[in-house]
This record gives sequence, structure tokens and C-alpha cells, in this order.
Amino acid sequence: MSEYLPGLEGVPATKSNISFLDGKKGILTYRGYRIEELAEHSSFEETALLLLDGRLPTAEELACFDEDLRRNRRVRYNIREIMKYLPPTGHPMEMLQTAVASLGMFYPSDECLTGGDRCTDLNYIHNMSVKILARMATLVAMWEHLRNGYDPVAPRSDLTYAENFLYMLSGCEPDPLHARILDTCLVLHAEHTINASTFAALVAGSTLTSPYLVVAAAVGTLAGPLHGGANARVVEMLEETGGPDRVRPWLERRLAAKAKIWGFGHREYKVKDPRAIILQKLMERLMEHRGGRVSRLFETALALEAAAEEPLAAKGVYPNVDFYSGILYTEMGIPTDQFTAVFAVARCAGWLAHWCEQLADNRIFRPTQVYTGEDVRPYVPLEKRA
Ligand code: COA
Repeated sequence: MSEYLPGLEGVPATKSNISFLDGKKGILTYRGYRIEELAEHSSFEETALLLLDGRLPTAEELACFDEDLRRNRRVRYNIREIMKYLPPTGHPMEMLQTAVASLGMFYPSDECLTGGDRCTDLNYIHNMSVKILARMATLVAMWEHLRNGYDPVAPRSDLTYAENFLYMLSGCEPDPLHARILDTCLVLHAEHTINASTFAALVAGSTLTSPYLVVAAAVGTLAGPLHGGANARVVEMLEETGGPDRVRPWLERRLAAKAKIWGFGHREYKVKDPRAIILQKLMERLMEHRGGRVSRLFETALALEAAAEEPLAAKGVYPNVDFYSGILYTEMGIPTDQFTAVFAVARCAGWLAHWCEQLADNRIFRPTQVYTGEDVRPYVPLEKRA
């Protein structure tokens, strides 16, 4: 019998050429390009196409992809009607999973995967990826208004993906620096090897279910606090500390109680997550732009990172991508419970790239288990049970 490794730690689940990470050196690349370079020079649209197609696009290819995304931003009226009936107190990730799964019901049946040629039809896969990716931001932004009793803000086709996302969320003309920061956040969150949600997407994809349901499976998996849900917990936790001066005693109490420090630790990284380093710099840039006028969250986060060095660094536990992203989103006016949904919008690019890769050489996932239950035993009729 093969050895059982909890959490499949160290077990390769697939072969992939989409992204690479070296957790000891703190290196992350998408299709061979370092995340630092992509954050500096690329856009979410370009990064998404890089992930989907495997190479940096030409100017013409990028313009065409961008145009396709812009044309596919609107969602059918029926989706809005479905969303209206969801309880406003429901979590945005539950809404997103429902809405993205529902999308598939309103589009023609030839958009379903039936196996055969479809699996290797790159045009089909590309078109489906565009349709879903373009609408993810619309769904998240629509919910923000619907749950507050307002009509959603219709998408605009004259704005970039990040600009339009901010515009739809707030209904106001987006601040250029905010849009640039959100764009970089989307790039940083777009892909991250075989994490839990991508694995869920692969498993779903391997059954040849529709891409809408592949993304729905991944959304549900990203929602948990050990994965994408951590970014919202970070902000709640920083508020709970009582501020930068009170962080140390708070941390001691927290660690003594063996509770998690949200936004710290990673299965792969044993150094500070390279994305956290970039996000921290973005926060510094935003602070500078505002002449230092930001909430105390950032100061508290810096104090917590310094205080956590001694107890956690020895275990290889450092800030991860979620530690600073939520603070940035807060500063941009994005509600805390929407952070994970913003993450999902970005990660959808990676999920779809992995879906494409899975279909190219598909075999249904069917792992084995180590059975720890009873041996075969006779059924006891109800009246004879003690
Ligand atoms: N706070 C405090 N201690 C932590 C920690 C955290 N966030 N993350 C890991 N540790 C400690 C564990 O308690 C364990 O200590 P021990 O050896 O004394 O028992 C050690 O570090 C190894 O942690 P483990 O839980 O085995 O690592 P993992 O690879 O199974 O888990 C995470 C990785 C991400 C699930 C984990 O670090 C975590 O829960 N982090 C908080 C949630 C989070 O931010 N998730 C977003 C990830 S991008």
C-alpha cells in the first residue's frame, strides 16, 4: 500500500507548465516570468492571456483579447433576478458560486463539454475562458449593489478590467492609482500552482463538466479561511489587536492559545511570500500618495509582522499574500467580506488555464484511500439493536 500523506503534502497531483514556485528562495513565476516583473510591467488582461496561451501576446493579440473581455462583461437579466432572491446577509463567495454556476444555465448547450474533440478545441476553450473571466467581476460588483437594495451599475467598455471593476463596485469614476493597484493585485492573485482551489478545478475539469461548474467548484474551495478566506480574517484580526502598541501582548495570548495568525504561513513558502513583499510596497506607495493618511491597519500589520518574527520565523511561518492584500482593499473602499471574491475574480484566470491544461491530456481523478472502517459485518434489524 502506498504511504498516506495528509493534505497530499509533497504528492504531485499533475504535471503543469503554467506556474512555478520555489518556497525556499521565495520565487514565483507565471509561464517563466517572475512575478515581480509582471507586477511592474504587465496588466491583468495581459497576464490572463499569458496564463491561458502560454506566451506573452503581441500587441494585436492583446488588443483582441481585451476587446473580447470588454464585449462579454454584461450578464443576462435572469442572473440579476436570481441574485435578487439571495439573502443580502449571505456571503459573497456563496453568491459567486451560485451565480457562476447559474451562468451556465443561460447559455447554449453547445457550451457544455461532451468530451471528444471539444477537449482539445483551443478555440472553444479560449472562448469559454473569455466569457467566464469577463463576467466574474460583473457578478461580484452586481452583488454589492443588489444586497444593499440598489440596482447594479452596468459595466463600461471604455475602461480596463481593473478600472471597470472599481467603477462597477462604487459607481464612481475610478481613482487612477487605485485602479493601478487593483490591477497589480489581480496579477499577483491570478495563479499559484496546485493550490486547493486549483486542485478542485482540476478534479471537476477531469470529469468533463462544464467550465462554469469547474469555476464554481474552485470558488467554493477558495472560500475557506485556510485558503482565500484568510484575507478578510486578517483585517478583522488586525482590528481586534487594539492597534500597533498592543500587538505584542495580543500575539503572545493568541499563540499561547494555539490560534492561527491569519495571513501567515504557507504550505510551500518557508520565507516571506514574494507577493506579500510587492503588496507591502504598494501599500507604502498608496500611503505616500495620500500623505500618510491611511487607516491604522497598515501600521498594526507592520508591528505584527515584526512581533511575529521571533516566535514564527523558526517554523518558516512568514506573511503570505493575504496579509497585506486586505489592507489595500480596505483603503480602496472594498467591503471586507468581498475580499475573497476579488481574489476569485483574479484566480479565475489560473483556474481556466489549468482547466485547459487538464483537458489536453485528461484522465479523471480517482485517488485511492486507506480504509480505516469496520470489516464486513451482518446487518442488524432495527428491533434487535441495543
Ligand atoms: N499562525 C500560527 N502558527 C502557524 C501558522 C499561523 N498562521 N501557520 C503555521 N503555523 C505553525 C503551525 O502551528 C505548526 O506549528 P507546530 O509545528 O508547532 O505544530 C507549523 O507552523 C506548521 O504549520 P502547518 O499547519 O502544519 O502548515 P500547513 O502547511 O499545513 O498549513 C496554512 C499552511 C496556510 C494552512 C497555515 O499556515 C495557515 O493556516 N495559515 C493561516 C491561514 C492563511 O493565512 N491562509 C492563506 C494561505 S495563502
